[in-house]
Amino acid sequence: MIAAYAVAHSNIALAKYWGKANDELNLPAVPSLSMTLDALKTETTVVFDSSLPADVVNLNGFAVNGRPRDRVLELLDRVRQQSGITDPAHVTSRNNFKTASGLASSASGFAALALAATRAAGLDTSIAETSALARRSSASAARSLYGGFVKLDVGSEFASPVAPAAHFPLCMVIAVMAIGAKDVSSTDGMQATRESSPYYPAWLETAPQIYDVAMKAVLEADLEALGTALERSAMLMHASMIAASPSLVYWEPGSLAVMRAVKQLRRAGILAFYTMDAGPHVKIVTSPQDAEAVAILIRGVPGVQEVIVSKIGPDASVSVSSPDA
Ligand code: DP6
Repeated sequence: MIAAYAVAHSNIALAKYWGKANDELNLPAVPSLSMTLDALKTETTVVFDSSLPADVVNLNGFAVNGRPRDRVLELLDRVRQQSGITDPAHVTSRNNFKTASGLASSASGFAALALAATRAAGLDTSIAETSALARRSSASAARSLYGGFVKLDVGSEFASPVAPAAHFPLCMVIAVMAIGAKDVSSTDGMQATRESSPYYPAWLETAPQIYDVAMKAVLEADLEALGTALERSAMLMHASMIAASPSLVYWEPGSLAVMRAVKQLRRAGILAFYTMDAGPHVKIVTSPQDAEAVAILIRGVPGVQEVIVSKIGPDASVSVSSPDA
């Protein structure tokens, strides 16, 4: 029996993925570019154990049920199919941050699970193949196999690294809002946007252009150009979902207050830019020199519960041990 322990860091898209080209294969309709975060991570251990009556899935000390459990079992079944293993699995996972609230827990979660499950099954899967396996469960998870800046192109099965952290050492200041779990998952939100938002075609048309601008800015280490592109990507994505029916609004009053504070910072000469995902938290991209000043100002914004300052994170990692030994 092999126990595999994997660590994957969450990532935040600078050019967003929103919408699928293929639901069954979970292939994105637009390219995305992300930054892996050092401060937010998932640690997951997987053991396939013939003595178990059924799969056991624990997250942060509690049994996982319903759709989240089914998504874990779907990934495990793919690994069982590839490896020929039929044993149930024991999955123990821990996030060091809030789950399912737009802090990319599914990204780090499925990246760590894909890595731990393949290794526990004795598979010698490449990192690209592991990224593809994670992508089937959650497309943003494909990007969390790698550290630094990472892309997921349209039509690609797996994510690939773009540049290491040292190339463009940025910080992300995360304004965590005082609000619980989100009510509409990214998967459901994307589907609703595609089916009912008249702005979805406009999003599909503009997202690749913004991705190109963001990619160039990362390669040239140009914070102002990247910041302008990443704010635009987030706002266009949110505009497409706000125009869905029923309207999908992830923002809280505090989220808007943080966006306003970021604009104030820029007027004061600090290069800081915001992005948001399928949750109320605001993530601010800035330079390492300005990160503490940004964090101090954001801590004072009403509605902000906690501020996390993160540098760019590393590749996912895995180690295996034999409990029988
Ligand atoms: C807004 O990867 O969670 O965070 O593939 O359906 O699981 P599924 O969606 P998911 O969507 C992430 C959307 C986003 C933008 C991004 O991370 O690119």
